[in-house]
Amino acid sequence: MHRERIRHAGLLEKIVSAEEAASHIRNGMTVGMSGFTRAGEAKAVPLALAARARTEPLKITLITGASLGNDLDKQLAEAHVLSRRIPFQSDPALRKAINAGEVMFIDQHLSETVEQLRTRQIGPVDVAVIEAVAITEQGGIIPTTSVGNSASFAILAEKVIVEINTSQPLLLEGLHDIYIPTRRPVRHPIPIVAPENRVGLPFIPIDPAKIAAIVVTSKLDSSSTVLPPDEDTRAIAGHLTDLLRHEVKLGRLTTTLQPLQAGIGSIANAVMHGLIDSPFHNLTMYSEVLQDSTFDLFDAGKLDFASGSSITLSQAKYQAVLPDFARYKQRLVLRPQEISNHPEIIRRLGVIAVNTALEFDLYGNVNSTHVGGTHMMNGIGGSGDFARNAYLSVFVTKSIAKNGAISSVVPMVSHVDHTEHDVDILITEQGLADLRGLAPRERARLVIANCVHPLYRDALNDYYERALARAGHTPHLIEEALGWHAALRERGTMLPG
Ligand code: COA
Repeated sequence: MHRERIRHAGLLEKIVSAEEAASHIRNGMTVGMSGFTRAGEAKAVPLALAARARTEPLKITLITGASLGNDLDKQLAEAHVLSRRIPFQSDPALRKAINAGEVMFIDQHLSETVEQLRTRQIGPVDVAVIEAVAITEQGGIIPTTSVGNSASFAILAEKVIVEINTSQPLLLEGLHDIYIPTRRPVRHPIPIVAPENRVGLPFIPIDPAKIAAIVVTSKLDSSSTVLPPDEDTRAIAGHLTDLLRHEVKLGRLTTTLQPLQAGIGSIANAVMHGLIDSPFHNLTMYSEVLQDSTFDLFDAGKLDFASGSSITLSQAKYQAVLPDFARYKQRLVLRPQEISNHPEIIRRLGVIAVNTALEFDLYGNVNSTHVGGTHMMNGIGGSGDFARNAYLSVFVTKSIAKNGAISSVVPMVSHVDHTEHDVDILITEQGLADLRGLAPRERARLVIANCVHPLYRDALNDYYERALARAGHTPHLIEEALGWHAALRERGTMLPG
């Protein structure tokens, strides 16, 4: 019955229920599951684990590519299955458990997880659970809408459970490019010199004897939650386009730019969407998550090729793209996240990286993860992989949040994800600060003039003038530097009282 998708004859007999497959996972194990920003996650086995945890002690370390869809992180968190979670999440229930100290969350650069697993700095992975469109005649696993860390999980794990998802079209076969770096100390250069290069296999090569169970599912990926562009995000996109135009005028870029990377979330999606109405053409992406804007750029004839690790779309876009996937497939590749986010390739290609900040400070340090300096939002994801190695590292954010109670431009960030050394350009709807070649004192002047919201401009200027009086290469009033965050906690607003 499932011969079209399970082509290795000996594996057909491995089809079992999700509960039976999940019985390979025992208390205390480390489990590697497919799934990257709500795309391509294993859907049945995690639910079976959550159900089992209600009747017996069951705690695991769960490592994925990135966040899971279908409320799986929520269900696992609420069933108290997770003792440790690596390397990214974006679920409110799991976030709550992390911030309560119930789940130990390791917030990690997404390119790094499998390097640490491979060298046994973390792990080992006992069981891998991987969603697939099919298994080849030789037992190779063909992933679905994401690759994430699935290839290395399957290669490194002792046992592999495959979830064959019959709702994922067979047309996805051929989309993936699975390349695993050779072991150190003699590691070869990764031979990608352009986003469209294919350097690996279209499936995950493993010994089929490791496949302990196969579960057949049909649930679709959850759609993304990005909001459509608004006035502020359009303004941010406009500032970025103006900057890139200027770079072309100066002869530092051509009108095809350089490969683009866009972070997750509504703002980054809107910024990429803004390139539709720009003079740039024949664009390419070397990114991580391919969101709606990637397909909008294809449809607008602006984008030639996109390389990523997952495809995460809104419901409307999903419905438009999937039936018509053949039209896009030749211009897409999905790679393992250590390759989509690899410092070597990002630096080689000269990627223009656009990521989102929760807040940034006068000198260009960026906080992308911790609300108020203490509470985890989602995680650093791949933003650090790209920001540090990019040709141009851009961070965007709206200048205020929560109706103005929060300024996203602050004297000192309350947590640092991206240091001033990894940040070239800051953009809010107010304007853009080009920090390249500027010393801290010059940066501060520009950030105050161009990025901060008028509600907070005088207060930030006042802080800086008083800090200047104390001198220093990077002037600060140390006792006051986090005063805005303290005011938010005490009074519910950063606005001067
Ligand atoms: N302090 C507290 N909350 C803030 C804030 C700040 N300075 N700035 C924004 N927020 C809140 C918003 O109010 C919003 O809250 P809500 O969900 O309750 O409405 C939420 O953060 C999301 O902000 P939004 O403005 O909608 O932006 P977004 O959807 O683009 O997400 C990040 C922004 C930073 C949370 C998101 O991009 C992220 O997690 N980034 C880190 C990982 C990353 O960059 N990965 C990409 C690598 S390829």
